[in-house]
Amino acid sequence: MGTRFLPATKAVPKELLPIIDTPALQLIIDECVGAGIDHIVVVTSHAKPAIEAYFAEAPEVVAKLRSTGRDHVADHLEAIGRDVKISFAYQDVAMGLGHAVWCARDAVGDQPFAVLLPDEIMGDSSLLAQMCDLCETTGGSVVGLKEVPHEEVSAYGVIQPVGALDEQGVIAISNMVEKPALADAPSDLIIIGRYVLTADVFEKLERVQPGAGGEIQLTDALRMQAAEGTFHGVLRDVRRYDTGNPLGWLTAVVEIALDDERIGPQFRSWLQDRI
Ligand code: G1P
Repeated sequence: MGTRFLPATKAVPKELLPIIDTPALQLIIDECVGAGIDHIVVVTSHAKPAIEAYFAEAPEVVAKLRSTGRDHVADHLEAIGRDVKISFAYQDVAMGLGHAVWCARDAVGDQPFAVLLPDEIMGDSSLLAQMCDLCETTGGSVVGLKEVPHEEVSAYGVIQPVGALDEQGVIAISNMVEKPALADAPSDLIIIGRYVLTADVFEKLERVQPGAGGEIQLTDALRMQAAEGTFHGVLRDVRRYDTGNPLGWLTAVVEIALDDERIGPQFRSWLQDRI
């Protein structure tokens, strides 16, 4: 519902809030494409028609751009959604992440699939690509991990590791718990918004009862997978922005703007003067 970005999200879904000129959702799609994913299922709600509008053709805008010589912008618009198949699944009641994933079950089918939460933006596709490879070689689900200060773990899914990280940042996982009390947290390794899951998770989600916050938690279904078979996490030092709150979003915009070849140099010099 984007409550942290109200009032903007009264009219604009938070997935479409721009990072400079690109919606966060597009950055997620680019990350998928970079990892070799060719079909994306966007789980959305009928209350957010702007998400589907983003992928619709815009012949009038394109024609106007072409008639005024801005072909490169027109090409860019026409390319949206072309390099990948986009489908939609609907979650019209906010019943949790596990429920949102379950809503995509028919569109996903029985192949392994990735889940990307658009509140988090990665600098590149390398983590997701590594997670896809690991799922393929192990045959089990894989989650992205991050180490956080102990007092922050209660806001996340927290994993119970087995052994130590290998040199690729891979670690086996035996259990996990959603938003534990500090005293009950099995480690300081939290699940970030990147998952590569085997499709048996759908059948587990059907059995999950409402958990933390009264919601159907994905973590509870993943715990069943970890209890039955191989399950891994990957912790890597990749650029990652938490855009789920205004300060994190602003930080992402500033960092990405500083690196942007069109506006970066000018922005950097203005920022230096300003502070
Ligand atoms: C969700 C997951 C949680 C994970 C987090 C990552 O929580 O349920 O396990 O650690 O995303 O951002 P939410 O942020 O929806 O509360």
